[in-house]
Amino acid sequence: TRTAQALRTLPKTELHLHIEGTLEPELALRLAERNGVTLPFDGLDDLRSRYHFADLQSFLDLYYQLMSVLRTREDFADLMFAYLTHAHEDGVRRAEIFFDPQVHMNNGLDYNLVLDGLQDGIARGRDAYGIDAALILSVVRDLPVESAQALLDAAAPRASELLAIGLDSAEVGYPPELFEQVYERAAGMGLHLVAHAGEEGPAEYIRQALDVLHVERIDHGVRIVDDPALVQRVAAEGIGLTVCPLSNLRLQVVDDVANVPIRQLLDAGVRVTVNSDDPAYFGGYIARNYTALAETGLPVTALATIAGNSIEACFAPEEGKAAMR
Ligand code: HPA
Ligand code: ZN
Repeated sequence: TRTAQALRTLPKTELHLHIEGTLEPELALRLAERNGVTLPFDGLDDLRSRYHFADLQSFLDLYYQLMSVLRTREDFADLMFAYLTHAHEDGVRRAEIFFDPQVHMNNGLDYNLVLDGLQDGIARGRDAYGIDAALILSVVRDLPVESAQALLDAAAPRASELLAIGLDSAEVGYPPELFEQVYERAAGMGLHLVAHAGEEGPAEYIRQALDVLHVERIDHGVRIVDDPALVQRVAAEGIGLTVCPLSNLRLQVVDDVANVPIRQLLDAGVRVTVNSDDPAYFGGYIARNYTALAETGLPVTALATIAGNSIEACFAPEEGKAAMR
């Protein structure tokens, strides 16, 4: 439709995207074969039948299982380039992309192999499309804090290749304050600071991410609506929220896309952005998230505001932002 086309061509950034969440089932099976990895699925149809999630954890179980097919530098390069192709088609000018090295390291891979492959894919995307991409080192919060510190040990020699640190995986029971020292150290390495908070966890975790970790953006953050004072504060401070509507729907954070509190947050003056999170699992890349909101009656003018917010909330230098506006 014309609306869908208009939403695709809006200049935007994507600020909440897990590269491992772009692993499509077809590619997972192809890489399993290429790398001799055995998966407990009987072909594509059987694998496809597993994409029904009751909550965050049931998604994470499949997401971590399929990550075992990623073995070589080329695998990571191919995965990144495939994502950047989708992103370019959806009007993305810049993407700030999470990766989960602890999981790959637990699968026996070297941190530098993962980083090299992702950087190869980013270089291919820049050459092919002129798209700008940067990496967010994501800490898996349900692994021990010592594992996060070991990750920083591995990441430190090439810290200048990273944009930011993030915090993902199972949220409830793993509050941001556990990672105070990890974030302090990452800040000392020159990284920007973001964290998932208020997806399944309470608004209190958003408050901790701001006050204890000193994050500059909140990933998801939809539970902030339970705390009106916090909504006012985040609006006043210009903190970006990277909301992911189809993710919230598929992980049953909401029962309908119309109940993702986008309009309420925009009306409160919050710098809301829209993103795809794990598009291979949740039924669409970023433009599909925009059109899903349009289908709930959110006006295209509001979606244009959101695209503008995504440029303001990104960590590109001011000249880079100006070029995207
Ligand atoms: N939340 C928590 N952990 C994740 C997500 C998410 O949306 N995607 C990938 N890991
Ligand atoms: Zn996420």
